[in-house]
Amino acid sequence: HELKTPITAINLQLQILGRLLGQTDSGNPVKERMEKAFGTFNRQVTKLNGLVDTLLDVTRIKNGKLSLERKDVDLSSLVKEVVDRFTTTDKTVEIRTNLSPGVRGSWDLQRLDQVAVNLVSNAVKYGNGSQVNVTLIREEGFAKLTVKDGGSGISPDRLPYIFDRFERAVENSSVQGLGLGLYIVKQIVQAHGGSVNVESRENEGTTFVVTLPAVATPATGAES
Ligand SMILES: Nc1ncnc2c1ncn2[C@@H]1O[C@H](COP(=O)(O)OP(=O)(O)O)[C@@H](O)[C@H]1O
Ligand SMILES: [Mg+2]
Repeated sequence: HELKTPITAINLQLQILGRLLGQTDSGNPVKERMEKAFGTFNRQVTKLNGLVDTLLDVTRIKNGKLSLERKDVDLSSLVKEVVDRFTTTDKTVEIRTNLSPGVRGSWDLQRLDQVAVNLVSNAVKYGNGSQVNVTLIREEGFAKLTVKDGGSGISPDRLPYIFDRFERAVENSSVQGLGLGLYIVKQIVQAHGGSVNVESRENEGTTFVVTLPAVATPATGAES
């Protein structure tokens, strides 16, 4: 995509820059400052890339072009990998997992990765440092993924809208976000013929439950 081309070019140059920095004499007084700037540059480009991906996904969904690449997926391993990604990058987050092994289905790996990332990142972002619980079970013909936190919760009057495009439950929140994560989650889950539900109590916490049919159901309609 045209929006991605400049980001790819920047990333290529950043790789070169990183290599050159590595070869720079550590006695060089500007090295430390360059490394710091380089780190920020890298993180911000990664963030920008993520934002562009999110906006491209919204465009795809709006145009009915969110296509799934189904293959055999081990959701248990996938969810574990996603959780590990969070706990290794931020040692302060506490995520408990209870994942039945070998929960498999015919799903889109990348898209379910996105679903798990969005739900877990929300639980971490809005969890106020509470413990996050991620569970995965199999229920005859279905996989059921639950992400639970003990955080701020969502007020009942905002709850019906959190899956809508650009909707945030708290305006001007100190926590950054576009309000697109849950919209994309719902669209991906529905494209798989599944459903996503939420239960929340203010100041007590929030639980999201994703239910996915293990086998592709012909009634999904949203595929191309
Ligand atoms: N686990 C959670 N606890 C409390 N509020 C949540 C949680 N997950 C989502 N929300 C609320 O729902 C809104 C929509 O979520 P999302 O679509 O992921 O957007 P954002 O980019 O704001 O994270 C958030 O802005 C937040 O107000
Ligand atoms: Mg979010």
